[in-house]
Amino acid sequence: MPEGRLISAFSRCTPDAQASRWDNLWKSGEQDLWDRGQASPALREYLQSDNCLIKAVGEHCGRRRKALVPACGTGYDVMFLAKLGFDTVGLEVSAQAVDTARGYAASVSGVEGRTKDINWGKVDFVQGDFFSQDWESNVLSGTMGFDFVYDYTFLCALLPESRKAWADRMAELVKPGRYLVCLEFPLWKENQAEGPPFGLQGVYWNLLAEGGDGKVEREHMEDDSLTGSGQFTRVQRLKPSISFPQGKGTDMISVWKKK
Ligand SMILES: C[S@@+](CC[C@H](N)C(=O)[O-])C[C@H]1O[C@@H](n2cnc3c(N)ncnc32)[C@H](O)[C@@H]1O
Repeated sequence: MPEGRLISAFSRCTPDAQASRWDNLWKSGEQDLWDRGQASPALREYLQSDNCLIKAVGEHCGRRRKALVPACGTGYDVMFLAKLGFDTVGLEVSAQAVDTARGYAASVSGVEGRTKDINWGKVDFVQGDFFSQDWESNVLSGTMGFDFVYDYTFLCALLPESRKAWADRMAELVKPGRYLVCLEFPLWKENQAEGPPFGLQGVYWNLLAEGGDGKVEREHMEDDSLTGSGQFTRVQRLKPSISFPQGKGTDMISVWKKK
């Protein structure tokens, strides 16, 4: 990301003002600050690998599996998951982002629909605030949560004060026994440096496994065999062979099972 511009757009921002700052960036057409024009290569690699735990999730539950991509931006990852057969919700706080995502979805479905017989999952782009429950009942229609949530560049986009709320909300949205997958980024950046994106060394572990507030200075001991008081158990952490160049070779995929 051209970081200087993004950092200045959030100067003296408070947690309550974050959503409107993101919306302003969408309205002024500045998504070049984060938009990478394609689904995450690391997610694609993981979901197509033999190691992937998500493939088998809910296979025999007699309905399509339900995925959520919060803060989905243009929706590249949403369309990729739908193409794999997940009923997928892309959530965005910005109405402008939702319009952009719907336009992108129409262009992808048109091309793919003409050229291939793909068993698409349903795609739903929803305008709503991740931290509020307003949007949920419409998209969950009776199911008690999502089988799979994917986070990429959402946690790093939030002020550190909002991290605990992010983890608590993830725990509400992922069904027990189902998965949250995080593409951990940016791990090359000091946690004390200005953001967004905010450095996240050791932050996912602290929030999800230890039940902390995510305000850690750096990575410390992470031991999957210890049971922490967090609401998730980490079941995999892998270094993808490919990711966006902005990760500077440090991105990790981590897979978290809701307790
Ligand atoms: C850094 S961008 C990443 C977008 C997308 N994941 C991508 O990689 O292109 C962060 C996104 O989070 C969205 N966002 C910020 N706060 C949000 C919230 N509370 N609920 C839903 N979306 C939010 C913003 O509108 C913005 O599109």
